[in-house]
Amino acid sequence: MLKEGWLFFKSFIKQNKLCLIGSILLLVTVPPLTIFALIDSAYHVESHVLQQFFYLGLFPLMLLGLALFCVGIFISRQGFFSTETIKELVQKADKAKVLKETALVTSVILTVVLICMGAIVYSAYHYTESVNFCGKLCHKVMTPEFTAYKHSPHAHVKCVECHIGPGASWFVKSKLNGMKEVVEYLTNTYPKPLPTPLHNLRPARETCEECHRPEHFIGYKFVIKEKRETDENNSKVYTVLLMKTGTGGMRAQKAHGIHWHVSPDVKIYYKYTDEKRENIVEVIKVENGQKTVFKGGEEVGEGHIREMDCLDCHNRPTHIFHSAEEALDLQFVSGAMPEDLPFIKKVALEAITKEYSSREEAEIKIAEYINNYYQNNYPDIFKNDKEKIDKAIKAAREAYLLNVFPEMNISWNTYTNFLGHDGCFRCHNEELESADGEVIPQDCSLCHNLLAEEEENPEILETILGE
Ligand code: HEC
Ligand code: HEC
Ligand code: HEC
Ligand code: HEC
Ligand code: HEC
Repeated sequence: MLKEGWLFFKSFIKQNKLCLIGSILLLVTVPPLTIFALIDSAYHVESHVLQQFFYLGLFPLMLLGLALFCVGIFISRQGFFSTETIKELVQKADKAKVLKETALVTSVILTVVLICMGAIVYSAYHYTESVNFCGKLCHKVMTPEFTAYKHSPHAHVKCVECHIGPGASWFVKSKLNGMKEVVEYLTNTYPKPLPTPLHNLRPARETCEECHRPEHFIGYKFVIKEKRETDENNSKVYTVLLMKTGTGGMRAQKAHGIHWHVSPDVKIYYKYTDEKRENIVEVIKVENGQKTVFKGGEEVGEGHIREMDCLDCHNRPTHIFHSAEEALDLQFVSGAMPEDLPFIKKVALEAITKEYSSREEAEIKIAEYINNYYQNNYPDIFKNDKEKIDKAIKAAREAYLLNVFPEMNISWNTYTNFLGHDGCFRCHNEELESADGEVIPQDCSLCHNLLAEEEENPEILETILGE
């Protein structure tokens, strides 16, 4: 059955060099890729080595095979629709039969190949949207963002869920941007550190709102910060704040508090003059149709205007780099840092804030610095309690490695977090004034109630904990 058609198809491919090479490539890539794609869709392969081999190695080869095959069929002089091929078909004894069978064989083969490719393209597309692809492929470049992300509240949200919005225009934007980045990566021309804010892949407000409803955060949030002093006992102190998070307004609730800025009745625009948006020179508030402009005395020339959204405060919701102090405090909180080693907060802080040319060098020098300190100042501990010192060294290194990446020129405080005074006081300050001489308020109880500041045993903690 279909023998004639199959024979003709074979002989055609044999004669046509492009089709031959293309078919061989397809033959060696499509079956393994199909099997891998099916396994990947069903069981979600986690291994990045396998993903790279199949989707970045075999997949382009398959596309090349397909391209050669198509060129062979449609364009080349020995192609399927060339006069020679048609002449050959016509010369065959049983023309109609050969013609019909050839068409049938070709379409069956093509259908099978296309179905396989559908499965493969679908899986490969999913791979380009995966955390592995975004976070690990250009390993050196993305390590800082990936590291911070893995330890953040959003560690289970995929990169693309924040960075790529819905719809076709985002799709095009993201793939174009991706291509530009791959070129920069291959030619080693990418900026170090990666610039922020982002211009193309900046998460949109709608993106955050797929999971968080701004009108929903009614009320207050206790923020309790456990810190360590740099004294001999590494004394534990607490800062307690009641954040007036408020709401963007829901049903009868009027918008108030910190999330008042994102109420549907309020629009805030600001004019900034620097790349990082730290220097804000004018703020325009439009509330229920009424417009108020706050600006400084001096005329500023050119600037850029933006509408304020979630990211003007939550600019580091997942790539959270801590200050050196905070990073060490977190090591104490988790129990990784021994709290009864005299002066360890102070010594570790000195060790991790020195400048090192690489992470490897830092690991060695941090250990040296801490060891030296205890050898010289507490020889007893150094002799009898080496284990504790080793534990402290491990925690200090961890604090450093989670936050500092000399290869990408990322040091302590390279990226500013706007969710604090650094962000709020860009607008809430004395300099920007309305025509009536009003300023954007700064009283200490506007955004939070400061219930305790670096106190050892704050009464408020006893009250709220009931202990
Ligand atoms: C919860 C949302 C969210 C997720 C998930 C997320 N990002 Fe981001 N990312 C942001 C925001 C917000 C910014 C800062 C945007 C701005 O200021 O314009 C950012 C900035 C960046 C930057 C620019 C450099 C910088 O540090 O500001 C890179 C690179 C980046 N993200 C990569 C990633 C990668 C890779 C992943 C996945 C491993 C990821 N992001 C996951 C929200 C997210
Ligand atoms: C796919 C869903 C998803 C998206 C998109 C998302 N988040 Fe979240 N976010 C979460 C979840 C889940 C948590 C809670 C994590 C937990 O408590 O462990 C969270 C927590 C938070 C928190 C509280 C963090 C804390 O310290 O407790 C903030 C603030 C936040 N998200 C802001 C944002 C912003 C800003 C964006 C947009 C750039 C965003 N989120 C996008 C799911 C999401
Ligand atoms: C004016 C700055 C500002 C804007 C704009 C803003 N937030 Fe917040 N948001 C805050 C602050 C401050 C907190 C309290 C954070 C803290 O101290 O832990 C907060 C808290 C949150 C929390 C945590 C709530 C909880 O109970 O833990 C989420 C989630 C959140 N914001 C999401 C959003 C989203 C989504 C948007 C945009 C629609 C947004 N925020 C706009 C400043 C802002
Ligand atoms: C882009 C400028 C801008 C930034 C940044 C900004 N604010 Fe505001 N904020 C305003 C303006 C404008 C008002 C309204 C002042 C007025 O009504 O006179 C306001 C009002 C407020 C109010 C009072 C809301 C009410 O109930 O009426 C709170 C609370 C507040 N901001 C908190 C914050 C916090 C917290 C941050 C930082 C995380 C912050 N703001 C950052 C511009 C800003
Ligand atoms: C416009 C809003 C706003 C105003 C006004 C404001 N703060 Fe804050 N403050 C914040 C935010 C946001 C944070 C960060 C909360 C967090 O880290 O979760 C903060 C944090 C703090 C902290 C804790 C810092 C830390 O990490 O230990 C202290 C202390 C503090 N504020 C004191 C003050 C004092 C004193 C004033 C009056 C001069 C003041 N604040 C005015 C928004 C404000």
